[in-house]
Amino acid sequence: MNRTNFGSKLGVLAATAGSAVGLGNIWRFPYEVGENGGAAFILVYFTCIFLIGFPIMLSEFALGRLGQQNVMGTFRAMGHKRWNWIGYAGVLCCFLIMGFYAVVMGWTLEYVYQAVVYGFEGKTAEDLSQAFTDFSSQTGRPIYWSAVCIVATCAVILQGVTKGIERVSKMLMPLLFVLLIILGVRSLTLEGGMEGLRFLFTPDFSKIDPDVLLSAMGQAFFSLSLGMGCMITYGSYMSKKNNLGLTAFQVTSIDTLVALLSAIAVFPAVFAMGMSPAQGPQLVFVTLPSIFTQMPGGYVWAIAFFVLLAIAALTSTISLVEVVTAFFSEEFKMKRRTAAIMCSAIILGMAVLASLSMGIWANVKILGHTFFDLFDTISAKYLMPIGGLGISIFSGWVLDQKRLELEVTNQGTLKARFFKGYVFVLKYLIPLAIVSIFLNELGLFSI
Ligand code: TRP
Repeated sequence: MNRTNFGSKLGVLAATAGSAVGLGNIWRFPYEVGENGGAAFILVYFTCIFLIGFPIMLSEFALGRLGQQNVMGTFRAMGHKRWNWIGYAGVLCCFLIMGFYAVVMGWTLEYVYQAVVYGFEGKTAEDLSQAFTDFSSQTGRPIYWSAVCIVATCAVILQGVTKGIERVSKMLMPLLFVLLIILGVRSLTLEGGMEGLRFLFTPDFSKIDPDVLLSAMGQAFFSLSLGMGCMITYGSYMSKKNNLGLTAFQVTSIDTLVALLSAIAVFPAVFAMGMSPAQGPQLVFVTLPSIFTQMPGGYVWAIAFFVLLAIAALTSTISLVEVVTAFFSEEFKMKRRTAAIMCSAIILGMAVLASLSMGIWANVKILGHTFFDLFDTISAKYLMPIGGLGISIFSGWVLDQKRLELEVTNQGTLKARFFKGYVFVLKYLIPLAIVSIFLNELGLFSI
């Protein structure tokens, strides 16, 4: 079968960066930073991004383009069926992520609605925090919004890869970027805002404990869409001429920049308004509206921001649902349409569980976690790093090195002076880092 290719160089970048940049950067990153002590977490996070994230992204692209298949088919096509487990784990992971991601994306739509209908003017931080809790713990409304998000994602998927994904990301991602910069400036110039910068950039190393390490690594995987075959699937749609190393570098850099910008928008305001940095998932939904109340024209900024955030989330959910759609349609010979609709239905079921666990099911705990937490923890902290471990071992030790080199260098037409270093990192450094972070977390080994 001739796979669809992304249309242009810019299209490839827009689609992959669109997958990476999403709620992970703007919603999850700030609250992880807040809960894990600030600057020290950021330092560990950067290390994970460049030492673990970038090489794994390059490998995923290379494996995808080599195999020309969905996550599972890739390993079979390369003649290594035993590594199919990475594909199964990826598919499971995808459903788990979508289960809570759709809920948070639904929140952003509610905030678009609130921004349009009421505006946030005149509300104090306490009002906003209360309003968030009131809304997210309701039964019907958050589920309704998640359903809207799931249907929207499914609709884009049904339009096909090139047309749908590229067009949306290409135009709107740069806008989001500019808006974040404006918000950052406003936040920094609030009285007392500088305290927030100190929190972000003056590390207190005593804060680094096993949990911080695991959280930072999980966040790196989550934010770059790694470890579950998303970038394998996108790699399979890339043209043979695309420079994979360069794309991986650009995506990694853009993703990191957006995460940093959103932290710079959030934390000065948190300190200026005397809020707690460690308030968890509601952080962005309380902090940003309070910045809007302090801006001239805040009404319009608020609408623009939540609309763009919803779109950034959409380009990410598309990449997630594409993984499972490609998997079911190719592995089980289903029509793409049937596969996409079936996956969306499963995701809706999971989103209902995650959403209810913010309200009437808050006391239903599995292994000490609510459904929402459980989906997030299993995927980001465990399945993705384990998938990443598999991918680095596979591409460093199992796959024929010549094949990997030819793929990364576009059959020898690109110089790749970094190739030896890259393979070294795949073979030794990444497996060692991931395994020691796990053992450390389990208390079996201390760094
Ligand atoms: N990276 C996206 C974000 O930061 C989320 C995402 C999209 C994702 N595709 C993924 C996470 C695949 C893990 C795996 O919001």
